[in-house]
Amino acid sequence: MTRTTQTRTTPAATQGVGGTAKISVQHVRKTFALKNEEFVALDDVSLDIADNEFVTVVGPSGCGKSTLMNVLAGLETPTSGHARVDGADVTGPGPERGVIFQQYALFPWLTVRKNIEFGLKVAGLGKAERREKAEHFIDLVGLGQFADALPKMLSGGMKQRCAIARAYAVDPSILLMDEPFGALDALTRVTLQEQLLDTWSREQRTVMFITHDVDEAVFLANRVVVMAARPGRIYDVVDVDLPYPRTEEVRLSPEFAALRNRVWRSVYHQTPAATRP
Ligand SMILES: Nc1ncnc2c1ncn2[C@@H]1O[C@H](COP(=O)(O)OP(=O)(O)O)[C@@H](O)[C@H]1O
Ligand SMILES: [Mg+2]
Repeated sequence: MTRTTQTRTTPAATQGVGGTAKISVQHVRKTFALKNEEFVALDDVSLDIADNEFVTVVGPSGCGKSTLMNVLAGLETPTSGHARVDGADVTGPGPERGVIFQQYALFPWLTVRKNIEFGLKVAGLGKAERREKAEHFIDLVGLGQFADALPKMLSGGMKQRCAIARAYAVDPSILLMDEPFGALDALTRVTLQEQLLDTWSREQRTVMFITHDVDEAVFLANRVVVMAARPGRIYDVVDVDLPYPRTEEVRLSPEFAALRNRVWRSVYHQTPAATRP
């Protein structure tokens, strides 16, 4: 909470700094029955995410990104392998994992404030405390003027900010975000990216952020995981050794461009697993 963006450092290792990883995916396989065949959505996926690390996952449509997130969210069970959070097997959803879906997933009959208070109510917080917390997060995402508006009165960007505030309010140590800015215009997207990094650097969070946008993947991350399809698997992992805060200067730097090109090639020039060296 006291840290500033200037002092933030990149977690050194992928294998759980000094011991247990915050998130550990070990040899996860997930298959779905498709007609008479078995469809392999995830094939032997292993990934450790360190405490406070920001990992982005990028890859072509259908490569299993959402399936991986759903496994970590506890909404899908792996066919084999393990998904662990803080060393314990994921057996269902939990309050330490905040999930943000692409389609906002707000309650349409509740105002912005009530949407944000909802999770706090479930968590058993009293009225005054709920109100105070909701206020804080409404301000954080810049929705002060719309606190009493219903979702249908909000633009896509505002709905997404509301969904983010709702996820943040219950104070999860982990944020799982599935293409949260996918449907937004470029300007709103950049604003929300910067806001997200700002919040991440002030509050302790471990983030897995799925996107199909290579620039976004590099801009946000400590580490970019590139996935490939058929079967869904991890194809490449790229360390992003760029300083935070990620300013416009960083975004326009040659170092950023080099990393973006590297990830781009990895995403768009994938070869089937069988022909890889
Ligand atoms: N519940 C399901 N039943 C059958 N097939 C599924 C199911 N969920 C996902 N799939 C298939 O698994 C593959 C990976 O899906 P998904 O994880 O949504 O990919 P991504 O998010 O990378 O686009 C897709 O081909 C999808 O059709
Ligand atoms: Mg998806």
